[in-house]
Amino acid sequence: MAVDETVRGQVRDRYAEAARTASAGQYAEASDCCGGGGCCGADEAPLPITFGRRLYDAVQVEGLPDTAVLASLGCGNPTAVADLRAGDRVLDLGSGGGIDVLLSAQRVGLTGFAYGVDMTDEMLDLARANAAEAGATNVEFRKGTIEDLPFDDGSVDVVISNCVINLSTDKTAVLAEMFRVLAPGGRVGVSDVVAEDHLTAVQRAERGSYVGCIAGALSKQEYLDGLAAAGFVDASVTFTHEAAPEMHGAIVKAVKPTQG
Ligand SMILES: C[S@@+](CC[C@H](N)C(=O)[O-])C[C@H]1O[C@@H](n2cnc3c(N)ncnc32)[C@H](O)[C@@H]1O
Repeated sequence: MAVDETVRGQVRDRYAEAARTASAGQYAEASDCCGGGGCCGADEAPLPITFGRRLYDAVQVEGLPDTAVLASLGCGNPTAVADLRAGDRVLDLGSGGGIDVLLSAQRVGLTGFAYGVDMTDEMLDLARANAAEAGATNVEFRKGTIEDLPFDDGSVDVVISNCVINLSTDKTAVLAEMFRVLAPGGRVGVSDVVAEDHLTAVQRAERGSYVGCIAGALSKQEYLDGLAAAGFVDASVTFTHEAAPEMHGAIVKAVKPTQG
């Protein structure tokens, strides 16, 4: 399946706007971006724990630049589930303002390294500024798409991602690229929006927009089938919280076999 360049352009425009919002000192999630449409609203409002910064422990993000937290647009906390170890090379797909790259860099330490890849210049600028402010030396943000990763075969130990794979119009390519760049034995720890299996594509689209991380969500079985087709083993998809009716924030895990 080829990438839909029209949808990709809409996604890029929407997240460029979100980056500008965060750079201006406002919560990016308050705009109509991932899970937006007003669900997160003003800072003092009672808010559903669905998207963005509310999915992080306050202690965990203490010490990160404000604009990294302001730009948080994920639907989970992949660094909490990815089993990161000292010395790991971690790659975050669709790294946005860099929050998960910075948290990963802390976890893997100076013997490890955390990379982010994003297609939106405004997000890359914000992430690099956040890394500089945080004084992180074991991080790098590369421009590129998650369907065609700018990384060598077998060059990372862990792939994480936070609410980005649903935004791709070629998920087969994304899963194949994840497999390619992982070293044998490498792990996947991804947060994403996932639909219950009975929902049709039309029903998913009725629940939210593509750029809002809803319409493009895979179902649980589609995710498991896609991971298996890409070559992954030990795959699991675990729902964690509702993101829209019959659609959920989920933790997706899988492993690249050590051989074959
Ligand atoms: C919902 S935001 C999530 C950002 C970040 N992971 C977080 O948790 O805050 C989606 C991010 O993915 C990027 N993105 C979306 N589709 C992409 C693609 N096909 N290739 C590369 N980056 C993409 C956007 O530019 C944006 O920064």
